[in-house]
Amino acid sequence: MKVYIPLDSAAVALGADDVADAIRAEASARGLDVQVIRNGTRGMVFLEPLVEVDCGAGRIGYGNASPADAGAILDGTADDLGPVEDIPYLAKQTRLTFARCGVIDPLSLSDYEAHGGLAGLRRAIAMSGEEIVEEVKTSGLRGRGGAGFPTGIKWDTVRQAQADQKYIVCNADEGDSGTFADRMIMEGDPFCLIEGMAIAGLATGATRGFVYLRSEYPVAIGVMEEAIRRARGAKVLGDDVLASGRTFDMEVRVGAGAYVCGEETSLLNSLEGKRGVVRAKPPLPALEGAFGKPTVVNNVISLATVPVIFEKGAQHYADFGLGRSRGTIPLQIAGNVARGGLFETAFGMPLGDIVNDIGGGTASGRPVKAVQVGGPLGAYFAPHQFDTPFGYEEFDGEGGLIGHAGLTIFDDSADMLGMARFAMEFCAVESCGKCTPCRIGAVRGVETLDRIAAGDPAAQEVLTDLCDTMTSGSLCALGGFTPYPVMSALRLFPEDFGATKEAAE
Ligand code: NAI
Ligand code: SF4
Repeated sequence: MKVYIPLDSAAVALGADDVADAIRAEASARGLDVQVIRNGTRGMVFLEPLVEVDCGAGRIGYGNASPADAGAILDGTADDLGPVEDIPYLAKQTRLTFARCGVIDPLSLSDYEAHGGLAGLRRAIAMSGEEIVEEVKTSGLRGRGGAGFPTGIKWDTVRQAQADQKYIVCNADEGDSGTFADRMIMEGDPFCLIEGMAIAGLATGATRGFVYLRSEYPVAIGVMEEAIRRARGAKVLGDDVLASGRTFDMEVRVGAGAYVCGEETSLLNSLEGKRGVVRAKPPLPALEGAFGKPTVVNNVISLATVPVIFEKGAQHYADFGLGRSRGTIPLQIAGNVARGGLFETAFGMPLGDIVNDIGGGTASGRPVKAVQVGGPLGAYFAPHQFDTPFGYEEFDGEGGLIGHAGLTIFDDSADMLGMARFAMEFCAVESCGKCTPCRIGAVRGVETLDRIAAGDPAAQEVLTDLCDTMTSGSLCALGGFTPYPVMSALRLFPEDFGATKEAAE
């Protein structure tokens, strides 16, 4: 009997380690032959710890398991969810990037290969750099960190740059509150990221890679480091990648906990051992990046999606999606929601379906008031915008952004003036200090919102002016995008700003 219990941080936070210990102890007390496998998560956080038992006829799920359930789970008498693959939340997904996450043992290279792993790298090895880049362009893949820049074009810039050394840098500094896709794939399918980075290396001529991983993700750091060691041992990495005579090796570099180090130039400074301050662009990192050399900086999900594009073909990937948003997107549903978790689907699903059908509405059972899409710098959406299809251009058209595809849901008790103030305060705390609109503007923004809360009628106009200045004058997205949550809250929920004013009067 195989028993799968996630090692994923969210599952562990909900007690997965204790459940694993209890199942091992119970099995040993009964003399049962039980193999406990610590897998990644299926992404259904609302069911964690989710224990899966495989007696040879498929995996049966036991949701929200506790140590006290260990005996009944081993007996098969505990309340079960039926076959895990049939749970509607999972069955409705289109899993391409996350196809193996939660299925395999994350650190078993043979398990990885048995589920399609390394097929993409083998195919890429037989192609020229130019052909690899063309394949990525055909797939329509765009940067999943938030900006949505076409990955193939970025790789082509690096490929064509002349230099004695080039780098692949994976941005794993997933700082957006309410997002967890990067962490989940690193904890649940680390070889997928390694394979994607190796393909990026073959495409561009880069022979070294770095995963810049935030210190707040200790499990992901451990899993990635061990996976890199094993990949090197199996010659997936090193001087002779899969006996191709090509070189690509990589390492993990741990960040020190600043939100702004998720901005690519700040990340590069931090990677080089300097203070994490934003650099002016140009030069683009693609031409002068890590240590002054041409560098691909891509988000975890962008790179981890590359293997499936090469395994199944670019057209297969491009056939999913909507408009210029091709393929799938791992939505991260969080906040006040009944079914929080990761849901991978083709672009195009209406926002309301994500919130109500997939997420199940609010956890409190009260009406949904707002959804913040794209992390703390993302705009709020109100229910009258729920028919907006999930796509880069479609959200832009509504004055928002999809960012890293995090959705945080709020019920009707949310105070939107308070949320706007939180956004300005977040910016003030996390600002790197390099440019004035952000460094000073965010502090003034908090003060101005306090004036609105105190009933000052002139303060709303000041706030609007201040946000315009931050949008047009900030050097990076932290200062430049903070106005999204602030102004969308003011625009969509004026009563929260006015009502506070009236109360103050
Ligand atoms: P950007 O639009 O300046 O650049 C996008 C990417 O394209 C960069 O890597 C840039 O170097 C590259 N690029 C642009 N022109 C190029 C060319 N001609 N050749 C090659 N490469 C080129 O956006 P930025 O500032 O990198 O990212 C902003 C986004 O980050 C926002 O949309 C926001 O949603 C997201 N974000 C994500 C967070 C997360 O936790 N994942 C946290 C905070 C923000
Ligand atoms: Fe630094 Fe803020 Fe300016 Fe970005 S916008 S460079 S975080 S001061």
